Parts: sequence; C-alpha cells; structure tokens
Amino acid sequence: MNKFVITGGKKLKGVIEVKGAKNDALVIFAASLLTSQPVFVSNVPDIEDTKRLLELVEKLGCGIKQIRTGEYKISAKKLKSYLIDPEIAKKIRASILLTAPLLARLGRVKFPHPGGCVIGERPIDQFLSGYKNMGAKTRSRGNLYEISTSRLKGAEFIFNNITVTGTESMIMAAVLAKGRTVLKNCACEPEVESLADFLNSCGAKITGAGTPYVAIDGVAKLRGGSHRIIPDRVEAGSFVILAAATNSNIIIKNCEPRHLDSLLGSLKKTGVNFKVNKNSIEIRSSRLKSTNIKTHEYPGFPTDLQAPFCVLLTQSKGSGLVHEIIYEGRLMWTEELKRMGANIHTYDPHRIEIKGPTKLRGREIESPDIRAGMAYLIAALCAKGRSTINNVYQIDRGYEKIEKRLRKIGANIHRI
Ligand code: EPU
Repeated sequence: MNKFVITGGKKLKGVIEVKGAKNDALVIFAASLLTSQPVFVSNVPDIEDTKRLLELVEKLGCGIKQIRTGEYKISAKKLKSYLIDPEIAKKIRASILLTAPLLARLGRVKFPHPGGCVIGERPIDQFLSGYKNMGAKTRSRGNLYEISTSRLKGAEFIFNNITVTGTESMIMAAVLAKGRTVLKNCACEPEVESLADFLNSCGAKITGAGTPYVAIDGVAKLRGGSHRIIPDRVEAGSFVILAAATNSNIIIKNCEPRHLDSLLGSLKKTGVNFKVNKNSIEIRSSRLKSTNIKTHEYPGFPTDLQAPFCVLLTQSKGSGLVHEIIYEGRLMWTEELKRMGANIHTYDPHRIEIKGPTKLRGREIESPDIRAGMAYLIAALCAKGRSTINNVYQIDRGYEKIEKRLRKIGANIHRI
C-alpha cells in the first residue's frame, strides 16, 4: 500500500495545472454506452476512479482504446452484459451511473449497492423511484438489485433530494425513452450541463440542464460523438485552498473560475489576496481571518471542498463555523486534524467550530476518502515536521500524480 511522506512548513511557489474533472469523465464514460457508434473523450484525468469505471465498461462488452494520454475511444456497439461487476462496483459509487444506459440500451440491469467514499449513508432510492416512474420494474435479490423494462417511457419526476448522479441518471434514462420526461428539483452542477451538451451533440433533445428544471424529448437513436472533459473545479478549488493555507504564491492554470464563485466568495472573506483571470487564478500570500461556511448544492459552497477549507480555517485568525448539510459523515475526518493540533469543537455530526490560527504538527494519518485525503495532505504541508499519509489510493482516486505536481511547486512530498 502506497503512502506519502511529507515534510511541511514550507512556502510553495509556481504554476500548477488543473486536470479534467473526475465527475465529468465518469458520467461521460457512462453516457457513451447510450450509442452504438464510437465516442471520443479527451482531457480524461489519469486517476483510479476513471480506471475503475473503464474496467466496468469493458466488462459489459464495450471496446476501450486509449488513443493518446488522456484520450479514449469508447465503442458500445457490442454492449451485451447487463451485470455491473459487483466487486468493482462496490469500490466506486459512480458505478450507479451505468444503470440508466444499460436500461435504455438492453432493457435490463443487475448491480450491487454501489460503494465509494465513506462520507454518509448514500442511498439510491431516487434512482429506483425515478426508473419506476418511467415504467421499469425493480426488485432486489440477495445482494443485487435487478431492474427491467421493455422500453422506458417519458414521465414527470420530482427529486426529493437534490442528487447529482441521480439527475444525470434520469437524463440518461430519458434520452432514448418514449415521449417527454420532465425532471424537477434537479442538481445544477456544471457536470450535469456538460453531460447534456455531450448528449445533445449526439442527437439528444435536452433543455434546461444546469437549472432545477430539465426536459428531455426521447429520440430513437443517438449518434457517436466527441467530448472534452471540463476542468476539475474541485481540484482547482483544492489547489486554491492549498496555496492560501500554506501562505504561498501559486498560479492555478487551466481552470474555469466561474465554477468556483462560491469558494472565491468565501476566500474574499478570509482576506486571501487573489486575482481571477479567464482560465487561471493567482493566489498571493496573505494574512488570513476566519469565516463561516455552509455546504450547499451547486452553486453553493461545494461539500467536496469542505475538508480542505477546514484546514484553511485552522490557519486563519478567529473562529469559523463549518456546517456540512449534504452528508452526515463528512466531518468525522476532523478528529485526526484535532490530533495534528487543530482547535476544533464538534457540536454535532453536521457542525464544527474551528479556532485559529493554530500550529499543526506532523503525524501519521490514514486517508479515509478522496477529499479528506486531500485535506490531510494540505494540513501536512502546513504542519511543522514530518507526516505520513497512509492509504493514498483514496487520494489517487481523484487527483492525478499529485506528489509529482506538488513537488514542481516546491513541496517536500514523496511516495513510498
Ligand atoms: N441522496 C438520496 N437519495 C438518492 C441519492 C442521493 O437521498 O437516491 C442524497 C444523499 O444522501 C446526499 C445527497 O442526496 O445527502 C447528495 O448526494 P448525491 O447523490 O448528489 O451524491 P452523488 O451524486 O453520489 C456526487 C459526486 C460527489 C459529490 C456529490 C455532492 C459524482 C460521481 N460524485 O455524488 O463527489 O460529493 O455529488 O456534490 O459525481 C467526490 O468527488 O469526492 C464526491 C464524493
């Protein structure tokens, strides 16, 4: 098992480039199954989660060819299996994204409850009731769910909870369905809009993606196409926070600053000195003061940046309240941050208060999920002394060759 050894307490300097978005790549791979013609996907990050999803797609009978670094051809002409490999699916929540294309193309899908980050309950009730509304029959047998339909039918569906992959799945289920589907209370994340752009370029008829109301008119068939994965807003945000927390001068390149409005708004309140350009953000070393954050669905403060932001608050003067509203288990990682010296009071599973600034101390830490893993990495870079982060598979799931990219801006980080 790989680990990172980090010696912190050093200012960093230079330029770091943002890779393609994990959560866009995962859904575009799934959407490629909706057409029997080839799909070309570029700007794909080389991370563990994209590898796992491609393995799943290949096991379903699809052809995958890597054309060059970050570019893949996916051909779902020979899509034949409707069983999503349980062993792999248990490792990755995004495996659920394959259910809609399989239902649309084969009329049947069998899959286990999807795994992934341990950040909360993560039910799939919205997917199951969405598919049922479109005429599918759902049942569970042993550890597997089975859904089947002769052909999905357009329907009206209101999400009880705003769900990103749920919205994406219902859009994918509806593009080849008979008639019109109207979805309400949809997730508005940029990845949902990107998915709709890709599907529309293949002949789908989707309007409203990126707003809470999405309408889809089913078509008989989709053509193949190509898609460039959008920049990863969570990676960009993580680098922005890393730069501010370590009091460094860093330029974050190849990002889409308009996807980070909410984070940048909070950064302004902490007094971070930054400049936004068209596709880059420059962070300059600044004196930090605390602020409160409350996570929210897009365009609110992203839950995926809550953990890195908590580390920033440990380096800021004053007291900041962090309210995590999306997941009930996504503040548990802060217990280890306390052991690194952070002054944190936990009110309940959804709310903590961080008082700063505090000097963090290097420690041996276990990375529990992608974003908490990145937060520990930032904490280790802020901390005095040496830290070891175990289970870096979790960080590799979402950040491409992170140690090499951080070393280029002066970080003392090594993979062992
Ligand atoms: N929810 C339900 N029922 C459902 C589905 C979701 O109640 O059927 C609830 C969840 O319990 C949660 C909320 O809805 O409280 C949001 O969950 P959501 O379904 O939006 O999460 P997701 O689609 O599984 C995606 C990202 C996550 C990101 C969340 C929130 C992908 C592949 N994953 O997850 O990314 O945290 O949206 O923005 O797009 C990550 O990248 O590290 C990550 C975890």
